[in-house]
Amino acid sequence: MYQDNLILGIETSCDETGVAIYSKKQGLLANELYSQVDLHAWHGGVIPELASRLHMEKIGIMTQKALQKAGVSLSQIDTIAVTSKPGLPGALMIGVSFAKALAFAEHKKIIGVNHLEGHVFSACIEHNVPFPFVCLTVSGGHSSLYLVKGFGDFALIGHTIDDAAGEAFDKIAKVMNLPYPGGPVIEKLAEQVNFEDFFQYTRGSMQGLNFSFSGLKTSILYDLVKRGAYDLASKKFLKDDDLFFKQQVASSLLVCMGDIFEKKLALALQMHPGVQAISFVGGVACNKYLRRRLQAFADKKNIQLFYPTPKLCTDNAGMIAFVGNYLAEQNKYSDVDLSIF
Ligand code: KG4
Ligand code: ZN
Repeated sequence: MYQDNLILGIETSCDETGVAIYSKKQGLLANELYSQVDLHAWHGGVIPELASRLHMEKIGIMTQKALQKAGVSLSQIDTIAVTSKPGLPGALMIGVSFAKALAFAEHKKIIGVNHLEGHVFSACIEHNVPFPFVCLTVSGGHSSLYLVKGFGDFALIGHTIDDAAGEAFDKIAKVMNLPYPGGPVIEKLAEQVNFEDFFQYTRGSMQGLNFSFSGLKTSILYDLVKRGAYDLASKKFLKDDDLFFKQQVASSLLVCMGDIFEKKLALALQMHPGVQAISFVGGVACNKYLRRRLQAFADKKNIQLFYPTPKLCTDNAGMIAFVGNYLAEQNKYSDVDLSIF
């Protein structure tokens, strides 16, 4: 029998329905995910109403699956941790309402978790990441740099002023009629041409630790027009049959992204001496090329690099349950009026 605190984590902020069970003594006992990606891919991006409906359909089943996988019953759960912000309002509402109902009916404590805090500490689930560390969080919705001093003690030191890095991958992929999400497809295409920098896209002129990926996206679009690959009037990609051209664009984009990340991390380390490690998290951190680039960068700087396994990089409830665990230890419980705003 489990003697320690058991946390049930729930994640429904976007297009993944996740339920996880975390035990302080044994770590993650279950991290179940129903990915809606294929259903949204059909529309070329996330449809908020569809996301909410699918969360509603799956949340109960996923909870049962997680409990079964962990080999625990609902009565053994001490606390329910749920993503309460930020995210799609309708999608968040499903997770939070479900968590509240469960907490009320089963007499459990409840904790609202910030989705980004989940990402920031996601590498700590499997690794002993030393504090303070700099965390580069890059996903479809966020591109941020954090200075992390301890569990729950972190500060935003840089953020995107427009698009997120993953969004740039998704949008460029869409322009080239490639499937959603764009990141994995771009990586595959770039790999086939050895990650060469064919077109040398602009690295952006953002000063300081902030990012801007909207300019990069626009400059790639105009570069496509210049090369006769895109017609602005009809919004049509004209090189559907030219695999090499698509590989060149994908590869140049990825190398450019690697350069931008390196430049910002170098500045972050310079501005924050004493940092012990770098953590690379979020959906984009699944990218093996970017991991290799940042590993080489970290080696050069004589600093440790950590990244979660892919399942903990993309949206998941494991990271929410993990944060819920230390917030419970810090007695930071929420009330029944937990809100998504
Ligand atoms: O963290 P995540 O699952 O959801 C958000 O919170 O947004 O991240 C999804 C993003 C998408 O933009 C997707 O294109 C990107 O992560 N992504 C990748 C890779 N796998 C997913 N980007 C680059 N390379 C990958 N292998
Ligand atoms: Zn996320």
